[in-house]
Amino acid sequence: MPSCDILVSDQLRYRWETNTLDSVNGINIYYNETGKGKSLPVLLIHGFPFSSEMWKAQVAALQENGFYVIDYDLRGHGQSGIGDGQYTIELFVDDLIALLDCLEITKAVVCGFSMGGYVALRAIERNPERFGALILCDTTSSADSNEAKIKRAASIRLIKKDGVKSFAEGFLKAVFYEQSFSTKQNAVESIRKIILSNSTTGICGALLAMASRTDTTEALSKISVPTLVLVGEYDTITPPAAAKAMHDRIQNSKMHIIGNAAHMSSMENPNEFNEHFVKFLKNLNILTD
Ligand code: MLT
Repeated sequence: MPSCDILVSDQLRYRWETNTLDSVNGINIYYNETGKGKSLPVLLIHGFPFSSEMWKAQVAALQENGFYVIDYDLRGHGQSGIGDGQYTIELFVDDLIALLDCLEITKAVVCGFSMGGYVALRAIERNPERFGALILCDTTSSADSNEAKIKRAASIRLIKKDGVKSFAEGFLKAVFYEQSFSTKQNAVESIRKIILSNSTTGICGALLAMASRTDTTEALSKISVPTLVLVGEYDTITPPAAAKAMHDRIQNSKMHIIGNAAHMSSMENPNEFNEHFVKFLKNLNILTD
């Protein structure tokens, strides 16, 4: 059992019910709990190289609808500890399971966005008994191709040579729909800020973790829990075809394409995204009352 000495961060308490940094799996993991005990927990895993901040609109919608939500920062991201930067998706899964243990949660609904989806897919493959439902947002079960691995290596080289800022601008162009730069300026600015607040060690560690991840496609047919697949219509990183391929293999799955959005669908079109998200959760009948 990991140690759970809680260090409460007071500054942000007004926004969340609790903001805590627990020592989980040898590192401080920052997480927020909202609506504790009101439903089966819904655990949100952010993408690369972001933080739990990306889920603000979803946490608000789930809170409004009476769900218990936990959003947390993966190691090397946001306010969690950085450690040595030698990350793997396996290690991120170890942290996730240790966090559930630490919070004494035996079963949760897991929702992963992009890299968070890689973590969620591997977590449900390793520990299916810990998850009651799955939400996959703008993600894929495929491992990196050789071309993608070489691109990750080039990103690491760029970040080490010129810093996170030079990487961030190119990355923003890849993840947002072109029009979002004029119509969703707050979302773009918020993601820019999140990326720039992450460290070189954390970002490069996550790039190595993604490049070395396993392919979880074979395990999709074994997923038996209700699953929701969401993807932005213009997502070029993990396109609708990748989402459809997962949906076709997961027996009990539903899929929706989010309009006017690219990879950052939860932030580019939060209304449409949340409508599907909340409807799916309501149909699970996981509310405690
Ligand atoms: C993410 O949004 O988590 C990343 O763009 C995923 C990836 O690069 O494979």
